[in-house]
Amino acid sequence: MQVWAIANQKGGVGKTTTTLALGRSLALQGQRVLLVDLDPHGSLTRAFGVSADPPPAGVLELFSTPPLPMADLARPSPLEGLDFVCAQTALATLERRSANQPGLGLALSQALSRHTGGHDYVLLDCPPTLGLLMVNALAAADRLIVPTQTEPLAMHGLAGMCRTSEMVERSRGRPLPVAVLPTMFDRRTRAGRDTLRQMQEDYRDRVWSEAVPIDTQLCNADLLAQQSAGSAHPGRALGAYARALDWILAGQPQRLEQAA
Ligand SMILES: Nc1ncnc2c1ncn2[C@@H]1O[C@H](COP(=O)(O)OP(=O)(O)O)[C@@H](O)[C@H]1O
Ligand SMILES: [Mg+2]
Repeated sequence: MQVWAIANQKGGVGKTTTTLALGRSLALQGQRVLLVDLDPHGSLTRAFGVSADPPPAGVLELFSTPPLPMADLARPSPLEGLDFVCAQTALATLERRSANQPGLGLALSQALSRHTGGHDYVLLDCPPTLGLLMVNALAAADRLIVPTQTEPLAMHGLAGMCRTSEMVERSRGRPLPVAVLPTMFDRRTRAGRDTLRQMQEDYRDRVWSEAVPIDTQLCNADLLAQQSAGSAHPGRALGAYARALDWILAGQPQRLEQAA
């Protein structure tokens, strides 16, 4: 089982969309995939049509005493081979609990190491803050995927994620290979083109050589429902994500280091 964390310390860069799109592509290739919504905002959970009221069982139960097994929390999606675990708004309170309950940083790693659900891939949709939930995801991950919006301010989020991944590698003593995915690229704007070029110069082979284009038809809630299995016209962004997946699967460099 491969665990991928989809993370960036910035909101609105396409993390949830990337999680859904890569998960969908993997499932269409016949892989069994589990998506885990670690963001208290619950965008991924809502995309699957699960309401926050009453709160569904989900990630919070991985942190309860005793924790529930991941397999009991996984729900099937409309797409064959794709399951998901819900987020709850109360996840936001975990930070406070973690102060007097040491060891919570490894709850997700432990749940996944015991997981017997038959999944080939687990994709972790992270919140935009470097708190307990992201720490859990990075501790559990075999790979880190950093969606990065192709606009100048996004370079800060990417650099921040770079420093965080190096910290995680040092503290756990195991490499955390990184793949940077440029997202929401608008080739008509100069800022978009300049940012993409800068990203490729700074991060070289850690960045996918293409970019996921802006696609006004892309909506997280519809992404799986409307663009399911046999869709002949998956849309520009989903087509790009399928190629990005091939790049990630083809193997990737070991570390995210800013070129000198
Ligand atoms: N390639 C794209 N083209 C157009 N809109 C996009 C694209 N990728 C994401 N979006 C939209 O941008 C918003 C933020 O994306 P989202 O994946 O939720 O970001 P994050 O999870 O990082 O906060 C959502 O409304 C999503 O539908
Ligand atoms: Mg999100």
